[in-house]
Amino acid sequence: MDGSSAFSPPLRYSRSARLLHWLTVVLVLTTIPAGLVMVQDGLSRPLQDALFLYHKNIGPVILLLVLLRLVVRLVSPPPPLPASLPTIQALIARAVHWMLYIVLVALVISGTVRVQAGGFPMEIWDPVLSGMVGKDEALAKSASELHELLKSVLIALIALHAGAAALHGLVKRDGVFSRMWPPA
Ligand code: HEM
Ligand code: HEM
Repeated sequence: MDGSSAFSPPLRYSRSARLLHWLTVVLVLTTIPAGLVMVQDGLSRPLQDALFLYHKNIGPVILLLVLLRLVVRLVSPPPPLPASLPTIQALIARAVHWMLYIVLVALVISGTVRVQAGGFPMEIWDPVLSGMVGKDEALAKSASELHELLKSVLIALIALHAGAAALHGLVKRDGVFSRMWPPA
């Protein structure tokens, strides 16, 4: 039995949901360090430019992946959690998942506003995104502060989420981790 017969609910997220999840993980876990490093003083100009280029180009890709995931989620809803999981943990997990989606979208919006209000290019995304916001230094500063705050919220959410996933996968081995594994 692989759990996918007509008589028992599937035990895993769909293949596309898993693939999109782990692709998002790779992009998010490279975009965060790129952002943290690129704002440091004393970087060589070529390194700083490369990190900014990566950061600004990947941001909208993350947004597209989130939107695609939400569509996939509608088409094939998540499998039920193991019955052994306490209700409170299931509620917290669900709240963290939705906050992850919301904070990622808010990071892309605040980042785009920060860049355009500062009068900078959105690189490969300019043909689609340019002109959304005019140059406005005060707006650029507020968007920058919001972006910085959101990144701390995201890092805390990821620590909570990945910590819980690792606990389920390595210690409890109750089937929660394998809902999202393997990636394809
Ligand atoms: C289109 C999307 C994005 C754009 C245009 C963008 C742009 C920027 C810019 C310009 C900065 C430099 C800070 C400043 O000068 O105000 C920055 C910082 C940062 N961004 Fe983004 N960003 C985007 C999406 C994201 C996403 C999705 C994440 C997380 C996955 C992220 C995480 C960070 C981090 C961690 C920093 C460093 C903040 C700090 O410590 O000061 N950004 N971003
Ligand atoms: C780095 C950024 C990450 C983001 C943005 C993220 C986001 C998400 C989201 C939104 C869901 C819910 C999917 C849905 O129902 O729509 C989810 C599920 C899951 N994630 Fe992540 N994740 C990240 C990292 C990780 C890591 C590092 C691990 C493993 C250590 C992991 C393991 C899992 C597992 C096992 C599930 C299914 C568990 C459940 O349904 O409660 N995730 N993730």
